[in-house]
Order: sequence, then C-alpha cells, then structure tokens
Amino acid sequence: MFKDFRKLSFDWVPKELKHREAQMKRLMTLFRPVVDSNVSQNVSIKGAVGTGKTHLSKLFSANFEKLAQEKGKYVEHVLVNCRQYYSEDMVLLKVLSKFQPHFPDRGFSVPEKTEILRKELNKTKCHLLVILDEADVLLKRSGSDLVYTFTRFDEEVPGTKASLSLILISQQDVFRLMDSASVSTFKRTNVITLDKYGRDELKDIITDRVDLAFHPGTVQEDSTDLIADIASEGGDARFAIELLANAGMLTDEQGTEEVTPEHVRFAKAETFRTITEEKLAELDKSKKMTLLAIARKVKKSAYINTGEAENSYAVVCEEFGEKQRGHTQFWKYIKDLDALGFIDTKISGEGVVGKTTLISLSEIPAGQLEEILAKEIGGSE
Ligand SMILES: Nc1ncnc2c1ncn2[C@@H]1O[C@H](COP(=O)(O)OP(=O)(O)O)[C@@H](O)[C@H]1O
Ligand SMILES: [Mg+2]
Repeated sequence: MFKDFRKLSFDWVPKELKHREAQMKRLMTLFRPVVDSNVSQNVSIKGAVGTGKTHLSKLFSANFEKLAQEKGKYVEHVLVNCRQYYSEDMVLLKVLSKFQPHFPDRGFSVPEKTEILRKELNKTKCHLLVILDEADVLLKRSGSDLVYTFTRFDEEVPGTKASLSLILISQQDVFRLMDSASVSTFKRTNVITLDKYGRDELKDIITDRVDLAFHPGTVQEDSTDLIADIASEGGDARFAIELLANAGMLTDEQGTEEVTPEHVRFAKAETFRTITEEKLAELDKSKKMTLLAIARKVKKSAYINTGEAENSYAVVCEEFGEKQRGHTQFWKYIKDLDALGFIDTKISGEGVVGKTTLISLSEIPAGQLEEILAKEIGGSE
C-alpha cells in the first residue's frame, strides 16, 4: 500500500505549497530589502490551524537563505515553537543555541542573553531571521517585551548593519496581544493572511500526497474526494493528511488492496481522536485534571465561573487521589490552559457579585475531552 509513509508525517515539508504561491511571493517581496539594502523586517503570518503557516515559513526561510547566499550575504533562520518555548528565557536560549549549541541554560539573565546574541551576530556578520511560531502563547504567557526587543534589535546600536528580522506566526491577531509600544514598531500592513483551504484546494493537496506516499492505484478517486469533503469543514490540510494516513493504515490492517470511501469513513472518528490526544499530550497531570474539571461542568452550560471550576477541580482531585493545589496555583493552570488555546476565558459584565471570569471550552467537545482525559489521568498512575 505505502510507497513512502514518511511523506504523510506532519514534519515532512513538501518542496512546494500549492495555493500559497501568492503568500510566498509576498514574503519574498517584503524580505528582499534585507539582502538588497541591509535593513531588517518584521512580518506577521496569520491563519487557522492547518492552513500551512509553519510549512510556508520553513520553505520561505530555505528559499531566502539561498537567495542571500547568491548575493553573497549570510542569512540564517531559527524557528521557535512558543508552545514549547513560552518564556523570554526559553526563547532566547533556543535562539542562542543555534550559534552556541552548549550554551548553559542557567547563569545568564534575559538582558545578558540579548547582549550575547547581539555580539554573536555582529561577529559572524549574520542576519538572523527569528520565526516565533504560535507566538500568541509567548505573548499571553510572558507579555510582549521580547517581541519589542526583537523588533528594535538594531536601533539600539545606531549605524550598525541590521542583524535581526522577525516573523510572528499565530492563529489570532497578534497585535491585540501586544502593548502599544511593540505594535508601533510593526507595520500593520505586514500581515500575511492564510485563509482556510477550500474543498478543491484540499483535493489538490491530498492528490499530491497520495502520489508521493502510496503505490499507484491503491487509493480510489472517490476516497480522495471524500477526504476533501470531510476536511473542508475545517479547511485544515493537516487533518486531511492525517485522515489519509489513517485510512491507509486501516486498509493495510484489513489486508485489502485499495483505500475505499468506507475506509475513510471509519478513519474519520479515529482521526479526530488522535488529533485530540496529541494536543492533550503536552499537558502535565495537574493541567489535565483542571481541564477535566472544566469539561465536566461545561457539558451542562456554555460558560462556568471560576468558583464552579474550582469546586469541580476539588472533586476531580479527590477522585484521583491527588493533592488539591491552592487557589493561586489553580488560577495559573487556568491562565496556561487559556494561553495554550484549550479554553477561552472572558470577564463577565458587572453583576451583583462584581466581575468574574467566565470559562468555556474552545474547540474540542466536552464529552470527548472528558472521556480521553479521565482515561489518561487514571492510566498514568
Ligand atoms: N499548500 C499545501 N500543500 C501541501 N501540503 C500542505 C499545504 N498546506 C499545508 N500542508 C500540509 O498540511 C500540514 C499542516 O501544515 P502546517 O504548516 O503545519 O499548518 P499550520 O502551521 O498553519 O497549522 C503539513 O503537513 C503541511 O505539509
Ligand atoms: Mg503550525
């Protein structure tokens, strides 16, 4: 069945991104002055999950480094995923480790690390393209100081050649999460928006992956049509590719020769589940318990307040024999879950009891969350 399963993996980068040519061109146009006139540039890329943001930025930086090389300029890039590296310290460490692989993770403050980076870029004559992927997580958890520093990196030392450019990638409007000083250093027009893929675009993407990953004649045309139909609801290429992979594996397991629409239908529920499980895997046990507590309450109403959430959390702790953490710690769990996009919070209007924070779930249905979380927490003893 499979000619090359790796081509379906989420970290395999295709050589071209169909239907993103205009955005690729725009990126090139915006960054061209970096090599032509030694200036720096700041750009933000915005789009829903699976619209190709990460892969566009990876492909772009490879192309851009090549262009620079042809012009005799030295450009490097570093891509930081801010879900993993969500504090200023972590991001700077990740950036520095590009140049000094064994840079110590303790002993240097944020300003010291910034200075070391500046010296390093100066010494090597390198123009560094810093890509902060899922930048909203960094902005929500740690504020916009580091983004501010990066956007004005070269203004601190007048007369020197520009040494750092920035790409901020996010599902949401990053400007809303930045303070006014940081926003003012950004050109509002430097936003590249990736719309959700339409049905026919997804069909194109899937057809290409079928050719790359499967032996000829093993995936029925009806099946790729159905995958495109199902995935077009979210416009999400990642979901489409994962559905294709799961349908293929299911077909393999059953020992049949062709991926049929029925295999796709069976793989659909499984794909929703694996994507949810992958997302939840990044949470530690305490945050999983907090999320479970919220899921249980939210099942019965759209929004709950923090008091209700905390009561439910107490019950969950008792149920799983875990020590209940204090109010301050609980509040931090809520903030982190919000920053990571698992829940949405908003402040209620002024009521009898004053303002309160209201919590709801973002994407994953409460019932599904509850089921998977209860199993995972119970099983991780
Ligand atoms: N235009 C495209 N052509 C081919 N593959 C694509 C395209 N857009 C996205 N993909 C694939 O879909 C998956 C999700 O893309 P990704 O860049 O991770 O999305 P995002 O970062 O916006 O969530 C990746 O496997 C990527 O290779
Ligand atoms: Mg991404």
